[in-house]
Amino acid sequence: MMNKFLTAAVSLILLAAADASGNGKILRITNLHVFKKLSRPVVEFPHERHYTWGMGCLDCHHRYSGDTNMLDVNELYPGSPAASCSTCHNTSRELERSYHRMCTGCHRDMKARGNSYGPVMCGKCHSGRRDL
Ligand code: HEC
Ligand code: HEC
Ligand code: HEC
Ligand code: HEC
Repeated sequence: MMNKFLTAAVSLILLAAADASGNGKILRITNLHVFKKLSRPVVEFPHERHYTWGMGCLDCHHRYSGDTNMLDVNELYPGSPAASCSTCHNTSRELERSYHRMCTGCHRDMKARGNSYGPVMCGKCHSGRRDL
């Protein structure tokens, strides 16, 4: 109990510190260069929170050669083409499908396994929320 509490307190402090530095912790995902206009409210993606929850960069970011993910995490910096999904998933149909498979796909899996999970309903992701 005690340990668990301490861990939670420490990560909250770290998160508060990270948020105070305020750059891109929450990504507003709007690929207007591909979608032209959005038919749904903007998705605000708590990016940094996902990896502080224990997901690795390469669980989401990838460059496949066959089945192997060859991406080097050092290639992931703001503005890098390697970090942008639309570099490769570059038509509106394909891009929408790729996001949904990755985001909703993982949330559904987590739910099915009885873990805590993220939104699976359209309006919960396409919420235009700014308070994540
Ligand atoms: C887990 C989060 C999540 C859920 C749930 C989700 N979406 Fe999305 N969706 C995204 C992301 C991320 C994008 C990419 C947004 C962008 O680039 O503008 C996207 C893109 C889209 C787009 C293309 C961009 C636009 O606004 O026209 C449409 C349409 C869309 N989603 C509809 C839906 C519908 C309908 C549902 C429910 C059946 C749904 N989404 C559920 C995350 C989600
Ligand atoms: C849960 C999935 C997921 C995880 C885990 C993840 N990312 Fe991302 N990351 C994304 C998505 C989605 C985008 C938005 C890409 C886009 O707009 O095309 C993104 C965008 C980025 C960007 C460009 C936007 C920015 O912040 O300037 C960088 C850099 C980045 N990620 C680095 C990382 C690094 C480093 C890690 C590991 C510490 C990581 N990501 C972990 C999904 C993830
Ligand atoms: C360097 C190019 C590249 C980048 C950048 C990239 N992908 Fe992919 N992605 C691929 C390739 C290639 C595959 C394998 C396609 C296949 O097997 O059909 C793939 C597979 C996938 C898959 C599983 C196959 C499927 O369609 O179900 C998903 C989901 C996905 N990508 C989503 C994303 C998301 C979200 C991002 C941004 C965080 C991203 N990709 C960034 C090239 C890329
Ligand atoms: C590999 C698994 C995984 C992927 C990929 C993933 N998520 Fe999540 N997401 C989670 C988990 C797990 C939670 C819940 C964590 C918790 O509450 O402890 C979550 C929570 C969320 C939340 C709720 C945050 C809050 O506090 O209200 C949002 C919004 C969200 N995810 C959006 C997205 C979007 C958008 C994408 C794709 C760009 C995405 N997620 C990709 C696993 C994932």
